[in-house]
Amino acid sequence: MSFDLVFFGGTGDLTWRKLMPALLQAFRHGKLPGGGRILAVAREERSDDDYRDFIRQRFDEVDPAKRPSDAEFAEFGRMLHYMQMDLSQPGDYAKLKRWLDEPRAEEGRSAPADTVVLYLATSPHLFTVICEQLGAVGLNGERVRVVLEKPLGHDLRSAREINAVVRSVFREAQAFRIDHYLGKPSVQNLSALRFGNALFEPLWRRESIANIQITIAESLGVGTRGDFYDRTGALRDMVQNHALQLLTMIAMEPPPTADAFAIRDEKLKVLKSLKPFTPQSVQRDVVRGQYRAGSVDGKPVHGYLEEEKVPAGSQCETFVALRTEVQNWRWAGVPFYLRTGKRLSGRDAHIVVNFRPVPHPIFGGTGQPNKLVIKLQPEDGLELHLMAAKGGVGSGSEALSPVSLDLDFDKAFPHQRVGAYERLLLDAIAGRLNLFVRSDEQEQAWAWVEPILQSWAQDGSGPRPYAAGSWGPPAASALVARDGFMWDEEQ
Ligand code: BG6
Repeated sequence: MSFDLVFFGGTGDLTWRKLMPALLQAFRHGKLPGGGRILAVAREERSDDDYRDFIRQRFDEVDPAKRPSDAEFAEFGRMLHYMQMDLSQPGDYAKLKRWLDEPRAEEGRSAPADTVVLYLATSPHLFTVICEQLGAVGLNGERVRVVLEKPLGHDLRSAREINAVVRSVFREAQAFRIDHYLGKPSVQNLSALRFGNALFEPLWRRESIANIQITIAESLGVGTRGDFYDRTGALRDMVQNHALQLLTMIAMEPPPTADAFAIRDEKLKVLKSLKPFTPQSVQRDVVRGQYRAGSVDGKPVHGYLEEEKVPAGSQCETFVALRTEVQNWRWAGVPFYLRTGKRLSGRDAHIVVNFRPVPHPIFGGTGQPNKLVIKLQPEDGLELHLMAAKGGVGSGSEALSPVSLDLDFDKAFPHQRVGAYERLLLDAIAGRLNLFVRSDEQEQAWAWVEPILQSWAQDGSGPRPYAAGSWGPPAASALVARDGFMWDEEQ
């Protein structure tokens, strides 16, 4: 199968930081279908060779394990091409179409590529104009797919506007909305755990589960992205997409098949079952925070307000913790706690499923209830916490001790783990939609977070401060303690 992959925003950060290294990995793993061309599109005038030099130099700034050797780049670089385009000019889209339609004998092509993937890695305000122009020149036929990077809009209205234009030009099956968390191996393991094993399903419900906690903690601050971040905030940047996608994977019903539409139907049902927020419940169940100076990994770091390009007095939240419920028969009454933030105590993303205690304790006390920890990063694994007999003398609670069954997927499947962007790019080229977000899912997620945004806009009290390097404002602990529970690290 031959393919052409076009990056709009071809000189931007996302392209050289994430997409090119991911493609290089795919190339190294022998997964990129042969006969492929990669075309970067941007505003400046450059030749193909200038662009290859630019990418070659940028590789020096990425993770050393993802840098090519000279020999590798000589081969990989041959696939790279460049085109200058002014995205507001219809004529430039006609030029792009000609490039894609004309087979070039010197590249070993006798026909246009079987598949064209148009990856919009630009600012989202350009998405509508790009899609309209692609449609106008006929770059929306059967062989074309469009990949849309997040953030897809700023709120429900803007997301709907973008989706309406995308839908007027492409069929839903041609639209690949990226949430890179869905490409993480650990997230696929979550689906394997639930639907590839009979063991957990009977327990995966309100009768056995006391609460579920989803944490995506980052130790990094906003870095040089202060201006973008300040317009976005943690709710839009992480909760509306990544955290809610994880929640859907945990809470969804088993889909009838592994087909993308069947999976996404089930995820949509979860989003529709989430308890809607009211101004009162936002006050009670949502905590927003903003980091102050502190220390991370033993090094002093600035507070958010001292970061580059952050406006004075900003009330932007860099932390969110919230409590919600999935209102259906399986989950009624089970609290789901979501938490994410920048400059927290470490880079640590995990989901904890806390089971209920035994119904009739015979060892004295209640013992420690079982829990399943799904580790997303930095390690990728599963831990099942059980109570076991220590083997000593006595039969009371002192005879039991917590132990854990530990599965490390990086060790179990060495050299087979594929990064999120690598996986998603290969899926887009192959036309596999399972790990991409459908427009109705995305709009439903916006509809759910919207009352939080509205309440915050009207409530001048702003985010609560927390020290960089901590686990967020104390109010986040109080949110969970109110139900008689604790965050995992407090247990
Ligand atoms: C992005 C956010 O979507 O995800 C960033 O815009 C965040 O702010 C990043 O840092 C986190 O991704 P990962 O894969 O490093 O956990």
